[in-house]
Amino acid sequence: MTLDDVRRVVANVEADIASGPIVPTVTPQEIRSYLASRYDFTKPLALDDICADVQRMLRTWQVQVTHPRYFGLFNPSVTLASIIADAVVAMYNPQLATWRTSPAANEIERHTLAWLMGKFGFPADAIASFTSGGAEANLSAVIVALTRAFPEYGERGLRSLSASPTVYLTAEAHHSFSKIAHLTGLGRRSIRTVATDRELKLDLGDLARRVAEDRRSGHAPFMVVGTVGTTGAGVIDPLPELARFCRSEGLWFHVDAAWGGAAIIAPSLRGHLAGIDTADSITCDAHKWFSVPMAAGMFFCRHRDAVGEAFRVETSYMPGKTAGPVLDPYTTSVQWSRRFIGLKLFLALAQHGESGYIEMIEHQARMGDVLREALTRAGWRVVNATPLPLVCFTRDGLVTAKFLAALYQRQIAWMSEVRLGDDAPVLRACITSFRTTASDIEWVVREMGRLT
Ligand SMILES: Cc1ncc(COP(=O)(O)O)c(C=O)c1O
Repeated sequence: MTLDDVRRVVANVEADIASGPIVPTVTPQEIRSYLASRYDFTKPLALDDICADVQRMLRTWQVQVTHPRYFGLFNPSVTLASIIADAVVAMYNPQLATWRTSPAANEIERHTLAWLMGKFGFPADAIASFTSGGAEANLSAVIVALTRAFPEYGERGLRSLSASPTVYLTAEAHHSFSKIAHLTGLGRRSIRTVATDRELKLDLGDLARRVAEDRRSGHAPFMVVGTVGTTGAGVIDPLPELARFCRSEGLWFHVDAAWGGAAIIAPSLRGHLAGIDTADSITCDAHKWFSVPMAAGMFFCRHRDAVGEAFRVETSYMPGKTAGPVLDPYTTSVQWSRRFIGLKLFLALAQHGESGYIEMIEHQARMGDVLREALTRAGWRVVNATPLPLVCFTRDGLVTAKFLAALYQRQIAWMSEVRLGDDAPVLRACITSFRTTASDIEWVVREMGRLT
């Protein structure tokens, strides 16, 4: 197969998806019976037939997240280069646990991460790694922050601490932190939910009050999380003020920019991320707004020593111990065996160039504005405030579940519902495809008008 063949296959799949349904109707039983009837694994089958069948299943039984009218949960359309990268990685199967085993792959990742690290304004001696996604990057941040704040945490565990550590974030922050508190042994109750202002941004007064209260009652505050592009409403927390507060209180400042972080490269948007350069650590997912296939997250940290301490390990059976100044990724990250995650971002970035990527991101931001304007013109009420392409909206008397069922049934678009603060559920539409056009949006808003 040549590259042109791959190009043709990908173009055909894209065209097929764009002209077909977005939302499936299927029951678990239907899929299970189908699989049981065809795949008992007792005899070999022809690979071509199996591939065609699997593609049919994916085509029929999935929400088509790469459809231009999928206005969903940060799952992007994917670039051709990034699709090819994933296939190339599978063919060579490089093992990135150690530098010695895969020098080329490790250096390609380092080179790509250094590019983005520079955009975030981190110093050249900061450290970064690809992760399975934002949840793993956030987990890495909490582990490293704990390690730095409590030197005994690594050897003797949280139970050896004289005060319980506490983390501060808003109800709009990503709920991976809840699982992380459970996983790390912090306990879910160690999370302090800080109030938000009318725009759902973290309220600094409430943060200061809670930290002071916790200190008074013998807790040990150690970390604050600010979000760039909250999952529900795309809100950006006040980063410069958070950074100042964390510095004065000696707290770790983590910025979860899993989705919104990509805006740092776009001249029209990067001003909204001012202050991110002062973070102790950053989460940014390539498999969100950088439009590469899952799974590709990134973790950036300015404290190389703390990362080395958090993930250190010694064993004689791993190769590469004599690699000199190059730290092996299995000693600087959560993962051990690791896939060559970074190639998809490297290849897409090299092909499109920074300017191509800026255009993709700014196009989506413009489409967010088109959506906001079209909805407002059509009588909907936009209820969130963000420069990013995520629009939450409603109208009087709307029953979101019923409305969405009709939207899906007519295959108009995929969007979701969200509850912001204590308010009633509203509709949530995010531009996640660089292929979404203004006419897609106008059409969707027109068709939505016929449903209400
Ligand atoms: C703000 C934010 N942080 C973290 C995550 C978790 O990322 P992932 O699903 O890549 O693990 C998400 C997922 O949508 C998110 O929106």
